[in-house]
Amino acid sequence: MTNLIDVEGYPSDPKKQKPYHELECPVLPQIQEEVMLWVKQNTDFFSTKSEAFWHKISGGSMGRACPTLMSYMKSIKTPLREIAVGVLTDTMKDDGLLLHIGSPLLQAKINFPIHNLEDVYTEWYDVPVSKMNELGIRPDWNSDSMIYKLYKIHKTVSRDYPCITRYNMIDKPIVFNSWIAHRVIPGKSAKYPRIMLATMPMYEPRHLLNK
Ligand SMILES: [Fe+2]
Repeated sequence: MTNLIDVEGYPSDPKKQKPYHELECPVLPQIQEEVMLWVKQNTDFFSTKSEAFWHKISGGSMGRACPTLMSYMKSIKTPLREIAVGVLTDTMKDDGLLLHIGSPLLQAKINFPIHNLEDVYTEWYDVPVSKMNELGIRPDWNSDSMIYKLYKIHKTVSRDYPCITRYNMIDKPIVFNSWIAHRVIPGKSAKYPRIMLATMPMYEPRHLLNK
């Protein structure tokens, strides 16, 4: 049977590719400071409890406010196409960010830990593509593409499928493999809003995800 989403290399094979790759970033504290200042001046993340995790932002606006981010991206030769802020609010404290997989249009983002990072975990699961086909597909709100309906097995995935990694992103940016099913789960002592920055590179550094 052909897969419902028939794209070469999608989803990612966890035997061949890693869920994430850590990048060295000595300027992370400055990036965090600049992004937090931008967030406080330009958003209401601290006063409202949005039920949406992703907030697309104007790259121009954040770029001007976060010169260290821009110079870091330049230093790793990865110009940006788009930036989004991911915010976990306490309305999400029970379920976290539901199990999902990135659209076939984007595999390797670079994610930065920004604020309230303790006790929040990204979990990647080895869900076979045959199971994803059985779950079906839906339009993705963040792209013009279709994605698998993995939210249907959010509550049971840890019982039924192997967890590849449970990762607390805290002191390094990572190349993030969105083509493996994943969810974000806060622990009991997590603080809110937990903020991360996702950058969509012009040229994806997919090779860094190879095992
Ligand atoms: Fe994701």
